[in-house]
Amino acid sequence: MNMKIDPWSALNIDDYSKLFDEFGILPFDDMVREIEDPHKFMNRKIIFGHRSYDLITDAMKNNKPFSVMSGFMPSGKIHLGHKMVMEEIIWHQQQGGDAFVGIADREAHSVRGMSWERCRDIGINEYIISLIALGLEPDGHIYFQSGSEQVKDLAFELAAKANYSELSAIYGFTGETNVAHMLSAVTQSADILHPQLEEYGGPKPTVVPAGADQDPHIRLTRGLGHKMNMFKIEGREDKSGNKYFSVRSKGAPEEAMKELSQRIPGKTKLFEGHVDVFSADNFEMLLKTVRDVELEFGGYAFVPPSSTYHRFMSGLQGGKMSSSVPDSYISLTEETKGAAKKVKRAKTGGRMTLEEQKKLGGEPENCSVYEMFLFHLIDDDEELAQIYTECREGTRMCGNCKALAAERTEKFLKEHQELREVAKDRLDEYGL
Ligand code: TRP
Ligand code: SF4
Repeated sequence: MNMKIDPWSALNIDDYSKLFDEFGILPFDDMVREIEDPHKFMNRKIIFGHRSYDLITDAMKNNKPFSVMSGFMPSGKIHLGHKMVMEEIIWHQQQGGDAFVGIADREAHSVRGMSWERCRDIGINEYIISLIALGLEPDGHIYFQSGSEQVKDLAFELAAKANYSELSAIYGFTGETNVAHMLSAVTQSADILHPQLEEYGGPKPTVVPAGADQDPHIRLTRGLGHKMNMFKIEGREDKSGNKYFSVRSKGAPEEAMKELSQRIPGKTKLFEGHVDVFSADNFEMLLKTVRDVELEFGGYAFVPPSSTYHRFMSGLQGGKMSSSVPDSYISLTEETKGAAKKVKRAKTGGRMTLEEQKKLGGEPENCSVYEMFLFHLIDDDEELAQIYTECREGTRMCGNCKALAAERTEKFLKEHQELREVAKDRLDEYGL
């Protein structure tokens, strides 16, 4: 199978190991140990992969600045999948991250042909209100792409570094693709990089929590971030095996190279187009000096963004969740009784008959009701483990699970919808 991931078609990725081998996403397991109080998605291996998340654990541990950023296309109903990303943003905000949430109205307008008015309406009434109800604090930044001059200006700068072949290799763009659609791809990169602009405190690690289907955006953005930078630091070795660093210019002004060679402590040598650094045992110090000089000379010094990737829930009827099949998903704004009914009709991992269930046990790993527990409805790990064991041992019947899941879904939705009513009156605190 061709593993091109297309963020606009939200395909179900059934073999996650390919993401590690073919795309260089790293397993998240190693990171969990570095985190003091991990989010339940981390402990439960729902977040399974990352890029450069070590920068974020380092920032969290050592109280260094970092940000968390994601975007939502205002195209339809807010559902449990969006809730996952929102919870991840809020968790990182609680760990000290500066939070940014973009409503991707440029994307919805150019890709889906949605009017600006509708984008605004859905952006506020579906996404933003739930985001506030779920607990995003007002010191975070919520914005519409079309309303952010910084994002739009940066998108144009990034567009100067992105060429057609690169975009089409990632997204499968063709000669029929409209230019605004292409612009919306670089706008998304601008979303991700703009927390590092001077106005927001300058270069810093930024994590983008996302579903695995969003990785092409991250790869594009990491590449563009690199391309925008004036310098590149390379590790080298001379003929007798001594290690040193070489700071290479990528179109940096000559003055900046000179400044660098003077500013970097220890022995350095200035060449045309690069400065070699022979006594940099403190790499962080070197990195900081290079960034400072770049900023002074008008560059960006972007840190390539980090990311985390979560698994998707399957649809309530098995198969994929799809916005065109209302029975396959639960929306945060839907009528609570109807939602409970959907859960009661959901596909389980149970056997054909009660006897079989008792003899063989059920299959929680193939059960959308169990997924509801795992992803959303049960916080207590022990309670979850008990359901898992009872199911496997054949002492638990699907009817019980469904009733419990339906009841909790109804309760969650009711509470969330009450909090949404409160959130509606708080929009001005968020500058909206
Ligand atoms: N393209 C994303 C989607 O399809 C939305 C999005 C816009 C986004 N900007 C972003 C996601 C920045 C992550 C980071 O829903
Ligand atoms: Fe799913 Fe519960 Fe049935 Fe097991 S008993 S298959 S967890 S619904």
